[in-house]
Amino acid sequence: MKLLQIDSSITGESSVSRPLTEKVVAKLVAADPGAEVIKRDLAAAPLPHLDLASFPGGEGDASAASEAILAEFLAADVVVIGAPMYNFTVPSQLKAWIDRIVIPGRTFRYGPEGVTGLVAGKRIIVVVSRGNFYGPGAPAAAFEHLETLLGGLFGFLGATTEFVIAEGVRAGPDHLTAALDSAHQAIDRLAA
Ligand SMILES: Cc1cc2nc3c(=O)[nH]c(=O)nc-3n(C[C@H](O)[C@H](O)[C@H](O)COP(=O)(O)O)c2cc1C
Repeated sequence: MKLLQIDSSITGESSVSRPLTEKVVAKLVAADPGAEVIKRDLAAAPLPHLDLASFPGGEGDASAASEAILAEFLAADVVVIGAPMYNFTVPSQLKAWIDRIVIPGRTFRYGPEGVTGLVAGKRIIVVVSRGNFYGPGAPAAAFEHLETLLGGLFGFLGATTEFVIAEGVRAGPDHLTAALDSAHQAIDRLAA
């Protein structure tokens, strides 16, 4: 198994999402000790904004660097993504990575019947951490643009997404504890 771990939190030691992505990866590796794990830390090594020169499949160093990101994603059997909510959606570091992997002809294709995703079978596990509550009925539910974005886009690419969610982590110590308990239980429930 080839496993790609993507982290995007900028909060360093106090990150909620990073220990959770580590735990997911540790669980999967425990079940498959021969797994090859590639870790990409988008906060430590940010990707620049996508522009014409950096579009995968083109010429030049910037395009080659994007092509390497895309190839890494395509080669992975399992992708574990740490996705903290910053200003209601993914960190811009993670958006820059997304811009390298949603590529026509490579991860989806346009056709007369619409769009076909090309990464069916790839396992996607997203660890979400967010300060507030966004579930059904929550006052801020309409501001949830992270889970919807990632679930939608990996579905667009043909994969289904498994979510591990820690929410309400900034709502006080009791809510943080409950959020972590819930996320750890969700990890325990993940298939190995
Ligand atoms: C720059 C920044 C923006 C944030 N924006 C939101 C937000 O829009 N909604 C929310 O619920 N929490 C927000 N938070 C709180 C984070 O989602 C929360 O602290 C979460 O744990 C971040 O993941 P991390 O700890 O792995 O970095 C924000 C935090 C930061 C640092």
